[in-house]
Amino acid sequence: LGTYAGVDIGGTKCAVSIGEETTAGIQILAKKSFPTPSSPELALKQLLDTLQEIITETSSTVLGIGISCGGPLDSRRGLILAPPNLPTWDGIDVITPFQQSFGVPVGLQNDANACALAEWKWGAGKGCRNMIFLTFGTGMGAGLILDGRLYAGTNDMAGEVGHMRMEEDGPTGYGKPGSFEGFCSGGGIAQLARSMAEKSLRAGDSPLFCPVYEDLAKVTAQKVGEAAQQGDALAIEVLHITARQLGRGLAILIDVLNPERIVIGSIYGRQLAFLEPIVKQVLLEETLPHSLSVCTVVPAGLGESVGDLASLSVALHTVSFQ
Ligand code: BGC
Ligand code: NA
Repeated sequence: LGTYAGVDIGGTKCAVSIGEETTAGIQILAKKSFPTPSSPELALKQLLDTLQEIITETSSTVLGIGISCGGPLDSRRGLILAPPNLPTWDGIDVITPFQQSFGVPVGLQNDANACALAEWKWGAGKGCRNMIFLTFGTGMGAGLILDGRLYAGTNDMAGEVGHMRMEEDGPTGYGKPGSFEGFCSGGGIAQLARSMAEKSLRAGDSPLFCPVYEDLAKVTAQKVGEAAQQGDALAIEVLHITARQLGRGLAILIDVLNPERIVIGSIYGRQLAFLEPIVKQVLLEETLPHSLSVCTVVPAGLGESVGDLASLSVALHTVSFQ
């Protein structure tokens, strides 16, 4: 047990937190976030300053620092390698500056891997030997816990499931039309909803999430979810298409990896009522029964705070492997 620091580097937002491990889990002592500055140099400076601030404010002594960021990245060398949502972070070393400033072990992990560690330790994956975490937020990535440890692959690229092709064509994710991230991510849902709304407007209908042509550019996954909850037929159809593709993706992962649990973040929990029944139906149709019978699919147990706990779990993971 001890106190750790977590650093979350995202395309739109950065967050720094301090957490104290307790026998029951982890308690966040302090957290600060800010919009991601335009250059990596500015961002790193603000991250270092903010961490120093909250360490001072809470009079903490941290045992280690965990950094979580979207891939591709090189966790061994501590480099961020121009991920889709941070294209200017090309070959940026994020570990050395923290090591030099704070003198404690510093670890870097892909955001999905980091969330998998957090859900495994404190959330819906507790006690599992084989579990998969899927982000299903802005992007689609997986963190794989296999045989009781995090599986990163040969060069940290394991779990890039967003790149899998589901259809010849469709919404674009990870630069690839019809990919798993294309269908199953916030941006993908918005693209699909936009193209379906356009057809519906042309047919003289007026979908709740986009009543007029002028609203097309403003369609977001969140608006689609809200409209679905108010009973809008087109919004529900969008989520059903998403759910079918999610089910297919899960079926592939279950057939290949034979996990006992799949934990899904963000959008899955928020739209569970529309997604879960179809996902379950597709799994019954598509997965080998012997694999499906041992696997449960659940929303993230840490809910919306999984992101904060993810970087802290990277810190714990790093210190325990020193
Ligand atoms: C990235 C993954 C990341 C996922 C979720 C994908 O676009 O390629 O590395 O885990 O988004 O942020
Ligand atoms: Na991953």
